[in-house]
Amino acid sequence: MSASFASLIRWPLPALAAWAGCWLLYASALHLGAPAALAAVVAALAGLLTSVLTPARWRRIVVSAGFPLSLLLSGTLSLPSWAWLLPLLLFVLVYPMRAWRDAPLFPTPPHALQSLARVAPLPDGACVLDAGCGLGHGLRALRGAYPHAALAGIEWSGALVALARLACPWARIRRGDMWQADWSGYDLVYLFQRPESMARALHKASAELRAGAWLASLEFAAPEWQPDAVLQADDGKPVWLYRAPLTPAPCAGFL
Ligand SMILES: C[S@@+](CC[C@H](N)C(=O)[O-])C[C@H]1O[C@@H](n2cnc3c(N)ncnc32)[C@H](O)[C@@H]1O
Repeated sequence: MSASFASLIRWPLPALAAWAGCWLLYASALHLGAPAALAAVVAALAGLLTSVLTPARWRRIVVSAGFPLSLLLSGTLSLPSWAWLLPLLLFVLVYPMRAWRDAPLFPTPPHALQSLARVAPLPDGACVLDAGCGLGHGLRALRGAYPHAALAGIEWSGALVALARLACPWARIRRGDMWQADWSGYDLVYLFQRPESMARALHKASAELRAGAWLASLEFAAPEWQPDAVLQADDGKPVWLYRAPLTPAPCAGFL
């Protein structure tokens, strides 16, 4: 199956087909007399290899995790009882509760911010923050747009902070709550959160950003505020740009 063929099939069919293929491989290996652990590893590896055919990274994770998870849930492999705590522990490490209230991990696509600097130009050395920087995809896209900026990230999940630091050694990344962080020193604050977080983000930006600084939000707008510009990224996600001092949307008070 070629990558272009895979992209023609509607999601989640590629995931379902990959999981079914893994199970078929697993059952065939058992039938041929392979030990269960070896059959499971081979089938899980096949799932991992198949996952590279799907374009988006989060879909790759879904495709590759489907077989091992369903195998564990099926009880086909007997594991010690404490082994069930490992995925839970991993999950809590990567997604501490507070991060879920804003947005879980969805990475910024690589080219989503490529025309940002045209509309919101910044001088060399400008300070740019990715608020909720996850694994650093937003930081990488921001670096593409502003190669001479001083890039910083703040992220609530300690595990993601460690991984983002590895992926973006040129950025200053710290663990913390973006709502508690002071945004006043930044020339541009970038967000990729949830629609529900936007009103709070714009109020914070309105209170803290100095005149001329920007708030850029991928995909989600704050209807109560007037954007200064909206970019349309290649993958179809809009980038909403608000420049301080922020302007309330006309009639916002009547909604
Ligand atoms: C949709 S992801 C975006 C990741 C990254 N900005 C990007 O665009 O690739 C949202 C991230 O915000 C983090 N997050 C959510 N609430 C947060 C908070 N209050 N403080 C810091 N990070 C937070 C989540 O853990 C997650 O990694």
